[in-house]
Amino acid sequence: MSRVEIPLGLKELLHGYTVEVLRLKPADLVEFAVQHFTRIQEGQGKEHHATKGAVKTSRRGVSFKTHSDESVKDEEDGLVGDIFTVCYTATVCAEAYDPDEEDDDSDPRVVHPKSDVQRRRLQDACRDILLFKSLDQEQLSEVLDAMFEVLVKPQEHIIDQGENGDNFYVIERGVFDIYVQKDGGSVFVGKYDGKGSFGEMALMYNTPRAATIIASQDGALWGLDRATFHRLIVKNNAKKRRLYEAFIECVPLLTSLELSERMKIVDILGARVFQDEERIITQGEEADCFYIVESGEVKIRIKSRTAGQLDHVEVELARCIRGQYFGELALVTNQPRAASVYAVGVTKCLVIDIQAFERLLGPCKEIMKRNISQYEDQLVALFGSSVDLKQEKTVV
Ligand code: CMP
Ligand code: CMP
Repeated sequence: MSRVEIPLGLKELLHGYTVEVLRLKPADLVEFAVQHFTRIQEGQGKEHHATKGAVKTSRRGVSFKTHSDESVKDEEDGLVGDIFTVCYTATVCAEAYDPDEEDDDSDPRVVHPKSDVQRRRLQDACRDILLFKSLDQEQLSEVLDAMFEVLVKPQEHIIDQGENGDNFYVIERGVFDIYVQKDGGSVFVGKYDGKGSFGEMALMYNTPRAATIIASQDGALWGLDRATFHRLIVKNNAKKRRLYEAFIECVPLLTSLELSERMKIVDILGARVFQDEERIITQGEEADCFYIVESGEVKIRIKSRTAGQLDHVEVELARCIRGQYFGELALVTNQPRAASVYAVGVTKCLVIDIQAFERLLGPCKEIMKRNISQYEDQLVALFGSSVDLKQEKTVV
């Protein structure tokens, strides 16, 4: 019998695909394979060849393991052996990590000592970080212990697109511009202004950095190292997926998305509970997130304008129940919130921040725009006229 040679890299490619299948559980394996291998092909040529057993030290001084040589089984062990131990591809490297494992103590707990004042500032910066919303108290304090302060200067590159991910960042202060490579050039796609977080994607999906982030003024960030992010946030995401998978599947707005895209939304969303009559959105305020009702109900109320001034009296426009969304209009038009939104009874909403909305909900915008026309009809019916709500924002 002739000897069969396994081509170099085949095992690693299949490992990578299998890990993603087990993580994302796609309904259509063939379609998912096309997407997965296309991503790898598109990424080839960039400088992201994994180095076996290397320990990379980030420029912030925090070490993390990129791979562990020992956990790779010999090729004779079978093509797709120890799935969750290690996977390399030219561009995508899934780390030794099983989100379902009870405990992963292989990485020591990281603690960066802080003064009381620093800890308070850190807690304030992290208060509205959606990725931290599903952590329990102990996990959150472990995250806060591990975070370290990073002071930045104008024009400093915090992240460069294409690099391997070292840290996740929470903004305490400062403005950070986002650039994405398009058609051979670097395109400004948005900015973080004094709040929010970035750098989660490369750590969640073991992909190269998807954007460049540059400080446009003096600022302060809190970094979280890759290993701690994996152990606490990614592990929690596995639970989040189980919790929200079924619900997200039946949100009408999201049905046009691929399963893997819907799961990415689950990974970054946060959940918030509002009490009866609590105001969720205030008309006229700047917008930074988008909502989907998970349980309960919300009512949309608007104050009309007389001679440029907002009236005192609010008129109810509409209600949203489970599976419906609101708060998209200001994000699509880049205008202040067009109406106020209140909880009717105790109401739980899933929340998606503006950058993730831009990144992940682009394909749903056509549906949203169609619905914006209905808002105009409502306004005409109520007030006899409407402003043009449809103007989409332009990227400067
Ligand atoms: P990551 O890929 O780890 O590093 C760059 C980060 O920029 C990315 O995670 C996101 O957190 C953030 N980001 C913000 N806007 C975008 C965008 N339009 N495309 C990609 N990443 C973005
Ligand atoms: P946004 O303007 O971000 O915040 C208020 C939200 O109310 C708005 O997005 C829509 O999601 C929702 N809404 C529902 N009906 C209307 C309407 N007729 N006019 C404006 N907003 C509406």
